[in-house]
Amino acid sequence: MIAEGIASIEDLERGPHGEGGGLAGKRVFVRVDFNVPLDKKTRRITDDSRIRAALPTIEFAVKAGAKVILASHLGRPKGKPDPAQSLEPCGTRLAELTGWEVHLPEDCIGDAPKKVIRDLRTAGGGSQARGGPQLCLLENLRFHPEEEKDDEAFCKALAELCDVYVSDAFGAVHRPHASVHGLPRLMRDRGAGFLVLKELQALGRLVESPPKPYAAVLGGAKVSDKIAVIEALLAKVDLLCIGGAMANTFLAAQGKNVQRSLVEADKLPLARSLIEKAEKGGVELLLPVDVVVAPSTEATSGTAVRADAIPEGMMALDIGPDSAERFARAIRPAKSIFWNGPMGMFETEAFAAGTRNLALAMSRAEGFTVVGGGDSAAAVYQAGEDVAGRFGHISTGGGASLELIEGRRLPGVEALRR
Ligand code: 3PG
Repeated sequence: MIAEGIASIEDLERGPHGEGGGLAGKRVFVRVDFNVPLDKKTRRITDDSRIRAALPTIEFAVKAGAKVILASHLGRPKGKPDPAQSLEPCGTRLAELTGWEVHLPEDCIGDAPKKVIRDLRTAGGGSQARGGPQLCLLENLRFHPEEEKDDEAFCKALAELCDVYVSDAFGAVHRPHASVHGLPRLMRDRGAGFLVLKELQALGRLVESPPKPYAAVLGGAKVSDKIAVIEALLAKVDLLCIGGAMANTFLAAQGKNVQRSLVEADKLPLARSLIEKAEKGGVELLLPVDVVVAPSTEATSGTAVRADAIPEGMMALDIGPDSAERFARAIRPAKSIFWNGPMGMFETEAFAAGTRNLALAMSRAEGFTVVGGGDSAAAVYQAGEDVAGRFGHISTGGGASLELIEGRRLPGVEALRR
């Protein structure tokens, strides 16, 4: 069991003797993953699903009477403060979603957060109750280079802020960083929030005993990003569908002329060996039979052509309708289906159909369907609530879900075990 030996936030609340009240009045540090996409110009959050996903844990801790301290990274600010990567928009959204006041001290360690935390109103009785509970959201952890270095002194500075540690940052548990790795190891009272437990349970099912037949669909731009997961999946799945720009490298490895399509020339031998591995292991490997092409990524319309007849000067930017239909038919009987990576350049409407059709096909499949975070999760949400609602599990972690599926031990999960 992937979550074995990890206390849940409910266990922490029950306390060591099961009498309850384990969080009341305590300073509870909840590591969340509020690394959300922001509109470059307006800095408005374009997808708040990661914030919503952390709400059950935040609300539980607040209702248990804890002083709740939220911490996250946002973007990759290179170890120094950058107003463009402040967590302020997340604080604003969190206040809208919860109806509670959110305080954002200017730094994540030192006197500024200590003061805010000391004065934080909890959901307790008496005068404390006036005005409702408040939350503290620390400023971007990555404004300090020590966060990514898992620096001991930085971990200790974070530990000074809290009594209990809860991880609900599933999207970041594959990073060996201070707030997900070193800090929990310093804390006696540590555990996982509802989101992390839900993710571990859903993805763990695919890692430990996936109901068979097991199908996987992989997409995205680069084979190089997915080598480890393809290799791990080839040992487990019955069917592997490959789409997105990474399919071009496989098509080229089969000798097809993909013209100006994105190809990783140095990965052609690897793609050939993966094709052979699939054959030897009895894994059905499906590649696109048709693709939507255009002269450049700037194009706003495309044409579907056979994958072995891409016209000169054109590049493949989506899987074609026949491929989408073939993938949909192939995954239908599967009892477990895992999907990661878009089938094409889905940000542009002209090249979004392949990804959308896959989302629809998966939503109709009867097996246990899991989408690994990032772009593919965004595509499922874009396809509408009724589509998203029919998935078994939509992960909030891109890299983290892939590493789990590969069967790796993740630093932010291991650090929680007793
Ligand atoms: C993610 O978005 O995948 C996580 O928040 C981790 O972010 P990172 O890739 O910048 O570490």
